[in-house]
Amino acid sequence: MSPDALKALVARAALAYVEPGEIIGVGTGSTVNCFIDALATVRDRIPGAVSSSVATTQRLRAIGVPVFDANEVETLSVYIDGADEIDPRGYMIKGGGAALTREKIVAAQARRFVCIADQSKWVSTLGRFPLPVEVIPMATQRLMRQFAALGGQARLRLKDGQPLVTDNGQHILDVHGLTIDDPLAFESMVNNWPGVVTVGVFAHQRAHVCLLGTPEGVRTIAFEG
Ligand code: A5P
Repeated sequence: MSPDALKALVARAALAYVEPGEIIGVGTGSTVNCFIDALATVRDRIPGAVSSSVATTQRLRAIGVPVFDANEVETLSVYIDGADEIDPRGYMIKGGGAALTREKIVAAQARRFVCIADQSKWVSTLGRFPLPVEVIPMATQRLMRQFAALGGQARLRLKDGQPLVTDNGQHILDVHGLTIDDPLAFESMVNNWPGVVTVGVFAHQRAHVCLLGTPEGVRTIAFEG
């Protein structure tokens, strides 16, 4: 089965977590795009969604799902999003699509985080995927040196030869060469560095459930705690 077919499979499975009458949180990325396609078939069941990016907002509106500002909604029953890596504790690396800050904000509002991913995202230890970090541009060089001191090589993400600008008007560093053995401690540490907007380790906002696409079908992994 191709990666795209696996994404479509888990996207359809995620519909089981959409509770009728509840506003849901929706992530960003190619797997979530499949989820939005599937959501179109049941869009009348929900009053709307809180979105994690401009791109997702456009897609949700295109299928007729009203998009609420995060400030208008106190709690979401579920947040559905992909990941760049997910480990056996439900800790993730996210931000390959540069939407990590809003993703973490919406995830924090949800009672349950359902991660949808094809099996290529499953890892024993986080760090093979270059870690995205959204940063304030004036802090870029110092933050690169701080990551170098940890053994990482941080590169400024470019788009069309220019620094990529996020939905929040900031830049992204992609940090190669890290092995993140203690995601909770690592996330807390990097979040404390001045100039970091959001680090792409989702440990404090980890997944509660992962729907993992495999050639044998969808594997549902519920994380303890
Ligand atoms: C977006 O910023 C990311 O966090 C995505 O959730 C992540 O990159 C997974 O994207 P795909 O579903 O496209 O692999």
